Formats: sequence, structure tokens, C-alpha cells
Amino acid sequence: MRRRDFVSGGLAATVSGVVTHVPAARAAAKPTIPFGAAVRGGALVDDYDYRMALVERCQLVVGEGGLKWFDLRPSAEEFNFFDADKLLDFAQQNGMKMRGHTLVWYGAMPDWTKSISGASEALREMTQHIEKVVGRYKGRISSWDVVNEAIAEDPSTSDYLRPSIWESNLGKPYIETAFRRAAEIDSDTQLVINEYDIEFVGDRYKRRRDALLRVVKDLRDRDVPIHAVGLQGHLRGDYEIDKEGVSAFVAELKEMNIDVIVTELDVIDHLLPADNQVRDEAVAAIAADFLGAICDVSRPTAILTWGISDRYTWVPIYFTRDDGKPNRPLPLDRDYLPKPFMKVIQNFTRGTG
Ligand code: XIL
Repeated sequence: MRRRDFVSGGLAATVSGVVTHVPAARAAAKPTIPFGAAVRGGALVDDYDYRMALVERCQLVVGEGGLKWFDLRPSAEEFNFFDADKLLDFAQQNGMKMRGHTLVWYGAMPDWTKSISGASEALREMTQHIEKVVGRYKGRISSWDVVNEAIAEDPSTSDYLRPSIWESNLGKPYIETAFRRAAEIDSDTQLVINEYDIEFVGDRYKRRRDALLRVVKDLRDRDVPIHAVGLQGHLRGDYEIDKEGVSAFVAELKEMNIDVIVTELDVIDHLLPADNQVRDEAVAAIAADFLGAICDVSRPTAILTWGISDRYTWVPIYFTRDDGKPNRPLPLDRDYLPKPFMKVIQNFTRGTG
């Protein structure tokens, strides 16, 4: 019997009637590093092949949206857990873990939060949000992006945090407060500070690594419960990875007993050659440079890509190609066929990279 027939035979509808349980489709080999992908809510409901690809390839998932303030908080009083619950159902029924993205961020904030002002109101809003959301998923979300993108776009020594409603109202300690509160609510979940643009050659990226290390060191010195740095890894096909810089950065984290997790890997390919094969090889090569620089020093606790198939990717929101060709930033193509990038992931997750 073909695998696909077997899987279809094993389908069982869940509460929503659309998310399916596919026990037979678990990957046979247990990888050394768990692999996961960001999941788009609409596609999870509509696209059977998408669900299949996730179940076959992933040991964990994270919502591309769903747990962002914009999705969760239509108003100051309301919490809408529908999408996050649906993804968690899908994950649990298929033996996958789920990460949470994200509790405290400058982005994806609903309009009503613009009226938050003053330290006491900001503290109340932030802690109430953490309590409610982490509390609801206690024991079921195994890793949280507690603070996302805290580092300034181009940090200086005196000015190294990104402005946000949290930073402007609470100052630098907002990060410490968020981590402490999350740990008090769920003491078993992995608590992560998540960041982008730290891996390329260039002074600005070095300054961003230094600023992030400074923040993490400071948290460590104050015994704040933080377990890992999340490297988003939105790689640029047209930039070079600073392999030495990344390895040195990971080594410093290792010294502090801080893990690394790759949280949002993809390769932004708008300036790469048009030819699919050439482009796919270039994408795979840059991903290998990045993962190699990390894994040479320490094994990430997981590797997640920001999507699984080129069919559903955020990249064209910001990086469309001049030639009109679709972006190819992810490990599977639009028809769910593996590209060289998938092979790179397999090499690293199975420890053969
Ligand atoms: C992106 C999503 O993929 C898009 O669908 C959404 O419209 C905007 O946000 N870094 C992050 C993610 O931490 O939350 C972003 O996700 C991509 C960049």
C-alpha cells in the first residue's frame, strides 16, 4: 500500500472537523535535533497536503500568528485563543510539541494598546497578558519567545534597546520583568529571547550581537530565568554569513550556559538568480553556512523554519522579485517536494552535517 493511502485510511477528524490525526505518518528516524516549522492557520484548515507535510517532517510547530497580541487581544478585556488552541490540538494529536510566539514585542500590537501609558498601566498589561497566556498553556507549550526583537535596529553603547510601548513605559527592566513573570507561571517551559539580523558580515550585525550578549549577560548576572537565545535566521541570500562571528557569539552563550534555538529560518531570495536550481543551491548553501557556524560550537535545542513550503511564506510581503518569479525561501517547494535546503536541515538535525 502506498504511504498516502495508508495515511488517508488513518484519518480521524478532531473537534473542528478539519484538523486530522495521522499517527502512521510519524517519521521513522528520531532526529538528534528536533525540527519544526511555523504554521499558518488558514492553510492548516484548508490544505491537506500542507498538514501531511507538517506531520511527516516536523517534531514541533509554532504559530506564524495566533499568539501575537494582534491576534489574541481584540480589546483590553478580551482574549481570543481560537487559532492557538487549534494549532495546539493539531500538534498534540500528531505527537508534536508547540512553541509560543510571542509574549512581549514591539510589533503586531492592536491599536488599542497605543493608549497604554505610564509604568503602572504598562506593568499591569504586560504581566496580566503573560499570566493569562502562559497560564492557559502551562505544561503544553514547551518553549516561549518571551521577548521578541528587543535589540535596536543599529545599537550604540548607550542606546541599544528597540523602542516599544514596553521599553518607553518600563525602561530596560521590562525584559527582566517579563522573564521572571513567565517563569513564575510555568517553571518548566523553555524561556527564550528571540532576535534577528545577528548573523551577517558587517559592523551593524556585530553591534547587534554585542548588544544581545550584553542583555543576556545582564539577565544572567541578576539570576533572571532565561534559557535560550532564539536566532530567527531570516537569512539574506545576497549577504554573507559571518561564520566566525556567529561561532564566537554562540561560544559566549555557551560559557553562560545559555542554549541556542533556531526559530524562524528561511532564506530571502529576491536578489538571487532566477534559475530555480541555481537559486535553490544558493539558498541551501547559505543555510548550511549559518547552521554550521552554530553547530560547530553547540547543538541548538531545535531548528524551526518560518513555514515549511514555498506555497505559504511571509517573504513576498517585503521581498518580491523584480522578475515576478515567486520566492523560494523554504525547504519544500510549492508542491511539497524537498529542495536542497531540506537536505541541509536533515544533515544537521540528524547530526550528519
Ligand atoms: C510575520 C508573519 O510571517 C506574517 O504572516 C505576518 O504578517 C507578519 O509577521 N519576525 C517575527 C515574526 O518574529 O513574527 C514575523 O512573522 C516575521 C519576522
